[in-house]
Amino acid sequence: MSFPEQRPRRMRRSRAMRRLAAETRLHPADLILPVFVREGLTEPSPISSMPGVVQHSEASLLAAAEEARDLGLGGIMLFGIPATRDPQGSAGLDPEGILNRSIRAVKDRVGDDLVVMSDLCLDEFTDHGHCGVIDEDGEVDNDATLELYAEMGVVQAASGADVVAPSGMMDGQVAVIRQALDEAGHQHVPILAYAAKYASGFYGPFREAVDSQLSGDRKQYQMDAPNRTEALREVELDLAEGADMVMVKPASAYLDILSDAVSISDVPVSAYQVSGEYAMIEAAAANGWINRRTVVTESLIAIRRAGATNVLTYYAAEVARWLREEMSGSGESSARGTPASAPRATSAQRAQSSQGSPAQDPIQPRTTVADAPTEPHDPSRTDAGFPPVS
Ligand code: PBG
Repeated sequence: MSFPEQRPRRMRRSRAMRRLAAETRLHPADLILPVFVREGLTEPSPISSMPGVVQHSEASLLAAAEEARDLGLGGIMLFGIPATRDPQGSAGLDPEGILNRSIRAVKDRVGDDLVVMSDLCLDEFTDHGHCGVIDEDGEVDNDATLELYAEMGVVQAASGADVVAPSGMMDGQVAVIRQALDEAGHQHVPILAYAAKYASGFYGPFREAVDSQLSGDRKQYQMDAPNRTEALREVELDLAEGADMVMVKPASAYLDILSDAVSISDVPVSAYQVSGEYAMIEAAAANGWINRRTVVTESLIAIRRAGATNVLTYYAAEVARWLREEMSGSGESSARGTPASAPRATSAQRAQSSQGSPAQDPIQPRTTVADAPTEPHDPSRTDAGFPPVS
């Protein structure tokens, strides 16, 4: 049976029907917020390449953690930026270093009501910016680095981290950290393994965020963009080494990898919508070239649709607020504006909508957010409640 008996459009006629048919939804618990805390700051410091994201002071970090808890986020991922660096990244192993003391402070504040994860990597702490220590030949020394990771994992767990997240892409890191945690009595602390992490230009803004000292690249340890089968090997190895969760990173340009990882993983799979993915959306939205809220939502739905159990995203708190508004009916979704009553479209938005049917947003996700009414997705509307696109 085919057309005219088959008419898939029947299932798309109304918002309520689309909501019924949605195969994928977002929920605050799916979202993990990466946060940066910088030693010596007395107030948050903006990151110019990531508008809206800050380096936190130790005080403002606690407020961000409380908000993440109150919003019901899946967790937060802490990155520390030390005042001083050295070749070994000692500040990362120091129980009094910025990251470890921040883990303690956050756990003191939020207790068991929020999952607190810590980045387990040396790059923020080394004066050369690499994820491991450098050998005589100037290369990152895998096995020497593993010893430091093992120690770092134990210190983070002792500081109260609920999950440690090794992101350095050293071979064998999961096994070594697992063994060290177990020997130190931290059998209950899971490892979220950055399993398929690619050497990516999409990390550009993160380098500013952590004041990276790196010159050069990480291509000798992070994965090479052309490779797909190799990602399965990385995921399999991490699972065999005892990873409790695995991650694919970046997200949007690697949805095939994510989908592959999901197909072989028997543990949750995370995806990291990285700094460059965030920056591109922000830049285009600031120019009025895309509808910010629609694209943010769609980008996260796409990552979930590819199979991610949860998503690390700098949008986590904001999207959770949107979802809450929609659940309570107080947000944008409750505004029943018709095109006739909607604010006038900017020329950029008209240009965007003219690429598809003028009556329908050409980039509307057919999947919805939460169990709540979705926003009308009228391309002529501006983002109510948010700074209008300029
Ligand atoms: C390494 C690390 C990086 C990111 C997260 N952990 C940088 C890198 O590997 O170069 C990037 C995250 C982002 O771009 O948002 N500790």
